[in-house]
Amino acid sequence: MKRYAVMTLKGGTGKTTTAVNLAHGLSLSGKRVLLIDCDPQRSVSTTFGVSSDKGLDVLLLSGDVEILHVRDNLYIIDSGGRGLAEAEMKLAAVKDRKKRLFEALRYLKGTDYVICDCSPSINLINMNALYFADEVIIPVSMDYLSEVGADQTLGIIEEVKGLMGGDPSFMLLATFYDARTRMSRVVLNELRSKFADRIFQTIIRVNSAIREAPGQNKTIFEHAPLSRGAFDYYRLTEEVLALDKLDD
Ligand SMILES: Nc1ncnc2c1ncn2[C@@H]1O[C@H](COP(=O)(O)OP(=O)(O)OP(=O)(O)O)[C@@H](O)[C@H]1O
Ligand SMILES: [Mg+2]
Repeated sequence: MKRYAVMTLKGGTGKTTTAVNLAHGLSLSGKRVLLIDCDPQRSVSTTFGVSSDKGLDVLLLSGDVEILHVRDNLYIIDSGGRGLAEAEMKLAAVKDRKKRLFEALRYLKGTDYVICDCSPSINLINMNALYFADEVIIPVSMDYLSEVGADQTLGIIEEVKGLMGGDPSFMLLATFYDARTRMSRVVLNELRSKFADRIFQTIIRVNSAIREAPGQNKTIFEHAPLSRGAFDYYRLTEEVLALDKLDD
């Protein structure tokens, strides 16, 4: 089982979009995927038009959970919305509070991929996701502040490794790429020279179909399968599958 967290400290860089479409891409290729909404904003659950009163909040506190079956091979754990923020406060007093997610899913079977969609913050829920994950995908939109956010996120990953002995590796993903703007080209070049093979070859381009899809409760593969967005997320899925094969 491969465990991914999609995370960066900068908001609006395409974390949820990436978590949702990568999860669906992998499930379409025959893998069994569990997508965990780790954000009180509930963006993953909203995208699929589902919710549960036994979400991640309940899982972290009591170990109980409802796993929602949303598509062939694709399952979801709802975040619990505000309940997740409340759970975070309660967890603060609990021993091993940063390892709750790892412990709760320790014996999960029959799943090829678990993908956590994180909020853009430093909090206990994200610490749990980082401790749980083998790999962190850091979406970087093509602007200066997003680059800074990626650097800050890498700092947190290092801290987590030091603090808890977890060992997630990371991959950057260029998002919101617009070939018409100089900024996109400059930021992408900088990232590629700085991170070399730690950045996906796949680039996610700006595409209006990506923005429309959640409003239809659809992924990009359902909403606009012939769009640029579907092509880019298809390529990302293929790249993740190829990288995971190398690891095996
Ligand atoms: N490649 C893209 N082209 C156009 N719009 C996009 C693209 N990727 C994401 N969007 C849109 O941009 C907005 C922010 O994306 P998303 O919700 O995935 O970001 P996020 O990083 O999860 O945000 P947050 O930090 O709030 O969790 C959404 O409306 C989404 O549909
Ligand atoms: Mg999000």
